[in-house]
Amino acid sequence: MSEVDLIGELKSLEAEALQAVANAADEDALEHARVTYLGRSEGRISAILRGLGKLSPDERPAVGQEANRVKGVVGEAIELRSQALARPSAAFVEDLTLPSRGAWQGGLHPITQAIDEIWGIFRDLGFSRARGPEADTEWYNFEALNTPLDHPAADEQDTLYLVDSVLLRSHTSPVQARTMEAYEPPIRILAPGWVYRRDTYDATHTPAFMQIEGLVVDEGITFVDFKATLAEFARRYWGPGTQVRFRPSFFPFTEPSAEVDVKRVLTRPDGSQEETDWLEIMGAGMVDPAVLDNVGYDSERYTGFAFGMGPARIAKLKHGVDDLRTFFENDMRFLAQFAS
Ligand code: DAH
Repeated sequence: MSEVDLIGELKSLEAEALQAVANAADEDALEHARVTYLGRSEGRISAILRGLGKLSPDERPAVGQEANRVKGVVGEAIELRSQALARPSAAFVEDLTLPSRGAWQGGLHPITQAIDEIWGIFRDLGFSRARGPEADTEWYNFEALNTPLDHPAADEQDTLYLVDSVLLRSHTSPVQARTMEAYEPPIRILAPGWVYRRDTYDATHTPAFMQIEGLVVDEGITFVDFKATLAEFARRYWGPGTQVRFRPSFFPFTEPSAEVDVKRVLTRPDGSQEETDWLEIMGAGMVDPAVLDNVGYDSERYTGFAFGMGPARIAKLKHGVDDLRTFFENDMRFLAQFAS
């Protein structure tokens, strides 16, 4: 045979050998393929190598090289097939009919979850959603809300000013004034949003945080509406056994003002019940007539109530989290516990 014929024969032997290796169902079949193609005495590639002597000296190197290449390729295929056969549950691992394990798709942040739940309750009570700018003016953040600029809250120590009289709002209460300016009563709004304060970052303070503002204004709104609405909210959020307490307080934009506390009844796994301490959940009050006058409402005709709460604080109480910072550091090991 000539050099060309032998090289052709080696190539078809290679294809045949690789097929045999792939088809080998167990170690015995694989060993049989190894002997058939690579065996030293009987092997078909060895047989070709033995015939090299019949070629002319200048034909030999090309055929020899090709034979060695094919030996290498077939030897490697045998090795890989042998490893695959040795894997105990290879068939199981590759079962394409198994359902997937499910990929992590992310989840809502616990503060977002708290806002959504709180919003859902007020929406059911007939509130609409409102919003205002995070960069606002001194007028909306303070003066319209009956807070003079020499009030400590308006101090640069506490508030982040941008330019002149423009600042990062220090609470969501300016949305009250903006909403009343834009709409006539009846007003029934809930306004969640970011607020900013010049606070040091520690377990109970973050310089940016979320607040939720609420405002109701109409003819004939009384202290009874105020108490009943907020008590109803607390019972829907924390459960029907929740007690609600209104403690006298002071805010420039409400008169009278109150801080609202809840006391929850927890049921232990054994069925026995336990009351929590009183927990403060929001500031609130009847809208000060001066605020109604500032936005051009007739304070003889209209009355209302307002409230402001911190959803991070509420999420903290709900989940027993003791350091606010964990909500802001985006450690997935922490956040993933709240994903539903
Ligand atoms: N704006 C107050 C704060 O940031 C919270 C607040 C208190 C809002 C009483 C209100 C309210 O609407 O009536 O601390």
